[in-house]
Amino acid sequence: MNISFILNGNKVNIDTDPLKSLLRVLKEDLDVVSVKEGCSRGECGTCTVLLDGRPVTSCMVAAGQLRGREVVTLEGLENKREIKVIQDSFVESGSVQCGFCIPGFIIAAYVLLKENLSPSRDEIREAVSGNICRCTGYTKIIDGVEKAAEILGQKNE
Ligand code: FES
Ligand code: FES
Repeated sequence: MNISFILNGNKVNIDTDPLKSLLRVLKEDLDVVSVKEGCSRGECGTCTVLLDGRPVTSCMVAAGQLRGREVVTLEGLENKREIKVIQDSFVESGSVQCGFCIPGFIIAAYVLLKENLSPSRDEIREAVSGNICRCTGYTKIIDGVEKAAEILGQKNE
C-alpha cells in the first residue's frame, strides 16, 4: 500500500504493508535512529513519537493509520531550545546511564513542559509513567525533568 504522511516537516511516501508498525516503518524504511524498539507491545515507551502533536508509542500505530498525518521524532525537535535544555539537564542530573530509554523520556518531558513549566515531582512522575528505564531507578530522571523545568521557567519570569 502506498502511504504519504509528514515526517519531521517533510512529506514522505512509502510503499509498505499497512499493518507494519510505525516503529518499523521509521527504523526500516526511513532510517530514523532516535526511535528505539523495546517491548513492541506498547508498554515501555522507548518508541515514543508525536503523532499529530500527541505522544504515542509508535509500535502500536499501524502504517495504514498514517495517511495525511504528522509524525515528529526527536530528530524533528532537535533545534528546539526546550529539547537542548532537557538533554543538558538530564546529563547534569545523572539521568542517563545506557541511554536506551532516553529519547522516549525526552519526548515525554517535552510534552509535559510545553504545558506546565512548574510541575510537581508527582506530575513529572505521572508524565513519564509510560516510560520504562532499566538502569536509573527513575529518581535522577525526575531530577533532570525538574531541573529543565526550572531553567525553562526562568526564561518566562
Ligand atoms: S517498543 Fe513501543 S512501547 Fe515498547
Ligand atoms: S538509562 Fe538505560 S534503560 Fe534507561
